[in-house]
Amino acid sequence: MRVTRRTTAAVATAVALIMTLAACGGTPGEAAAPSVRNHTNVSVYTWWAAGVEKTGLDALVTVFEEQHPDIEFKNDSVTGGGGSAAKDNLQSRLENQNPPDTFLVHAGAELDDYIKGGYVQDVSGLYKKFGLTDVFPKDLIRQLSTDDGKIYSVPSNIHRANMMWANPKVLQDNGIDPSAEYDSIDAFIADLDKLEQAGVTPLSVGTTWTQVHLLETVLLGTLGPDAYSGLWDGTTDWTSLEVTTALQNFKTLMSYTNADRSNLDWPEATQMVIDGDAAFNIMGDWAVSAFDEAEMKLGTDYVAVPAPGTAGTFDFLADSFTMSANILDPENTEAWLETVSSVEGQVTFNKIKGSIPARTDIDRDEFTEYQRMAIKSFDEDTIVSSLAHGAAVPVSRLNAITEATNDFVGDNGHQDVATFQAALAATTN
Ligand code: GAL
Repeated sequence: MRVTRRTTAAVATAVALIMTLAACGGTPGEAAAPSVRNHTNVSVYTWWAAGVEKTGLDALVTVFEEQHPDIEFKNDSVTGGGGSAAKDNLQSRLENQNPPDTFLVHAGAELDDYIKGGYVQDVSGLYKKFGLTDVFPKDLIRQLSTDDGKIYSVPSNIHRANMMWANPKVLQDNGIDPSAEYDSIDAFIADLDKLEQAGVTPLSVGTTWTQVHLLETVLLGTLGPDAYSGLWDGTTDWTSLEVTTALQNFKTLMSYTNADRSNLDWPEATQMVIDGDAAFNIMGDWAVSAFDEAEMKLGTDYVAVPAPGTAGTFDFLADSFTMSANILDPENTEAWLETVSSVEGQVTFNKIKGSIPARTDIDRDEFTEYQRMAIKSFDEDTIVSSLAHGAAVPVSRLNAITEATNDFVGDNGHQDVATFQAALAATTN
């Protein structure tokens, strides 16, 4: 527990209460121990609050209710894709000592601040208890583990961030080969230009976090996996010419996007491709669940290819769940984590979410053609960490990058690339 002035006050109150109980003849031990029976639910904090994301969560809850019928699931979710609103709200709840029992967090650097703050409990004991250590990929276990070998969350799934979705009819109508993968951003820009000339919205995007997502794939597509990873471990110079080129590419791509972008979250931006109102959308593979829901068929009704210049790379992120510190009833949270990590939980959830199970001991044939492609890519390709989805950097640095991106784009392109680059470079300090 982090010792704050508030905890000191809480301890003083508890001591006073115990003294009062002792004076009344009560047993201090009884008063202090939280009763499991007083607390029959588990509050689960996510940003899967609406649409297909909620459908995925609901499916997981169905498994939870079957596996643990005596515990009530309490949906504690905050709208906003990518956790854009949830993370700030969560932070103030944690600081105010009002934690949900468990919260959604990305595996990787995003956990750092929560661990440092003392907001999450070490759950490595559950890995032994549920037999998880060998069923998750080694790379994922490494992402989840701290230097001293502790693990603070349990993964539900793995997503690929560097995917591009396209409407083949829109492409065909405008003389563009719908099966084409772009091996460079320059080749992509040439086709975006063709679409723009024809009066079609070439590329759909949404509010700031989706623009940071786009920026991430452009950095990866321009720099390649090694230099991209170097941006996060300090071996790539943010002020280099390659980064300038990447940011120029980002600026160019943004100039081909829809003007109403700041009003849209990812589902609406992806919907533009589903409806044929835009040709392309670059988004993580949770987007496939929207195409599935619209009953569109891969290859015929929609196209899914790696974002331009990123073939051969799997831009990785994993959703995972914590056990908050200082909660009344860890047993109920343990039950939730058991469901999240169970074979049945992972199969049921991932079939709807579009992601691949974090567990490797699952029959791959149960999944869709897109998911089998993602599993193959995860097995064979170079894995890099997602910026926008918590694998590469802690929340505080992502916030700084998001702010710089918002200033750059929000200024309607009036801010120059050099200012943007300097602002991004400053986030390394
Ligand atoms: C990601 C999350 C995904 C999906 C997406 C859009 O951060 O890992 O599971 O929810 O945001 O909201």
